[in-house]
Amino acid sequence: MEISLEDGGGSASPNLKRAHQAFRDRWKETDESMCRHSMSFHLQHALRSEFFASYLYLIELMPVVKLFPVTCEYIKGEKQFYYRAQQFYEDVPASEEGMLGDFMEIGNVDLEGSRQFLKRFVGPGKAGTHCALDCGSGIGRVSKGVLFPVFEKMELADMMEHFLLYAHEEYLGDDADRVETYYCYNLQEFTPPKNKYDVIWMQWVACHLTDKDLMNFLIRCKKSLRPNGVIIMKDNMARQGCKLDPIDSSISRHLDIMKCIIAKAGLEVLAVERQEGFPEIIMPVWMIAMK
Ligand SMILES: C[S@@+](CC[C@H](N)C(=O)[O-])C[C@H]1O[C@@H](n2cnc3c(N)ncnc32)[C@H](O)[C@@H]1O
Repeated sequence: MEISLEDGGGSASPNLKRAHQAFRDRWKETDESMCRHSMSFHLQHALRSEFFASYLYLIELMPVVKLFPVTCEYIKGEKQFYYRAQQFYEDVPASEEGMLGDFMEIGNVDLEGSRQFLKRFVGPGKAGTHCALDCGSGIGRVSKGVLFPVFEKMELADMMEHFLLYAHEEYLGDDADRVETYYCYNLQEFTPPKNKYDVIWMQWVACHLTDKDLMNFLIRCKKSLRPNGVIIMKDNMARQGCKLDPIDSSISRHLDIMKCIIAKAGLEVLAVERQEGFPEIIMPVWMIAMK
């Protein structure tokens, strides 16, 4: 199922604009022709129907306020949305195949694209190399292939215990000694430690959070960055509007919608780059660096 946000949420629909204008005109006329405090039928009618249409018009002018109802409408209940994702990942094997779904062949291209993107933000005068946080890490595929070669220490956060256990006991090998903490948390409830990370990486997990939870999580992540630190998000971005995948309970958003959530979290976008070399049938994957 795919919807369009018409014009990316920046302006309101013409019908609501007309209703808003009609309400303003009616209200003005009411003031002049009727007693201001009269609760006549006429006034009640205007209040009930036109006021709410006018109100909708005004909230449509504020893009993110509009977005929250949009994902809520698609998700049809946040608890179910999160519950279904939990159920889905319980059956996913702790392996690279499990992390990549049906697209094992993209693994190396993905990691190389991430390494090149990361390089742009780390180094002298940029982010340091002391510690990074891998959010929605799964078994630590990104930690192993992208982050461990750059950072002295790592921390991993994921809601599934069996992924983190496998990461520590097997997948990361000797690198596991450099993991300070594994956080087994839902990101929507997780507050990373303040002022700790040079880089926070979020790959294929923003799509598992509602707009509001994602915005609030980004706000908390911002507080946990060290000076010059950056957050890097890599995720599927819908070609249009928002797209709900009911199987793994994820919602992909158009890049403009994602940028709007990022702005609302008070973060500045430093760079945006599309991952090249993925098969055409895959939804576009974008990397966004922000601070
Ligand atoms: C598609 S996998 C990607 C794993 C890893 N980032 C990678 O690229 O290999 C999505 C991961 O997000 C985790 N996840 C999904 N929803 C989450 C949530 N609300 N809080 C924390 N982790 C979540 C899943 O357990 C899973 O490990």
